[in-house]
Amino acid sequence: MSNVNRFDVITIFPEYLEPLKLSLIGKAVNNGLIEIGVHDLRAQTTDVHGSVDDTPYGGGAGMVMSPEPWGKAIDAVAELAPNEIHELIVLTPAGEKLTQELAQTLTKSKHLIFACGRYEGIDVRVGDFYSSAKNFKVREVSIGDYVLGGGEVATLVIMEAIIRLLPGVIGNSASLDEESHTLSNDGETLVEYPNYTKPKEWRGLEVPEILLSGNHGEIAKWRLEQALIRTKNHPN
Ligand code: ADE
Repeated sequence: MSNVNRFDVITIFPEYLEPLKLSLIGKAVNNGLIEIGVHDLRAQTTDVHGSVDDTPYGGGAGMVMSPEPWGKAIDAVAELAPNEIHELIVLTPAGEKLTQELAQTLTKSKHLIFACGRYEGIDVRVGDFYSSAKNFKVREVSIGDYVLGGGEVATLVIMEAIIRLLPGVIGNSASLDEESHTLSNDGETLVEYPNYTKPKEWRGLEVPEILLSGNHGEIAKWRLEQALIRTKNHPN
């Protein structure tokens, strides 16, 4: 069994996931640090139209995604990591909110399956079925209190938050260490301190003198103060 983390995404719009080939994530795949599969849900349909949805029982607006293609697609991707616990992430605005802590927790999972629903969501029996299936764990996850057209963009957000935390993905791991220090002040999550680079003066705006002093202790103190001020003034 491969030792890398595997990610499978099930969607009716595989092209939506093309950005996974770029930048940090693209490199992590090319370097063999992770494996990613993107799967077209319609490949699991049997009718000529490739139908993936139907009208809701009980009536009401919109369409609901049918359980049968989802069940087949999830069973098929589970085969790609046969000895692992499969963590099925169902994207929905009704789910648990993505936080840095949740991203960190998900780095521990060897096989993540992202189910990107569209329309009014997926028939709830899909989540119910896999919640009690052997070797599966199900989580409903939201990236925020707003409604997207589907789970694809949410999947990109969650995958990026997880993958950058995996060992070897960010070349300079000190930047992660530093980030986690500045993110936490006795357990309180802080907004990052302000960053500057060259030139020393830009359009009349100067880099704070302290950052040019070479005094690492004083710089660390200043950065913590700045992070605390920013956190206090943060709109949320
Ligand atoms: N699908 C639609 N809106 C969403 C959201 N805010 N988070 C996750 N999945 C979604």
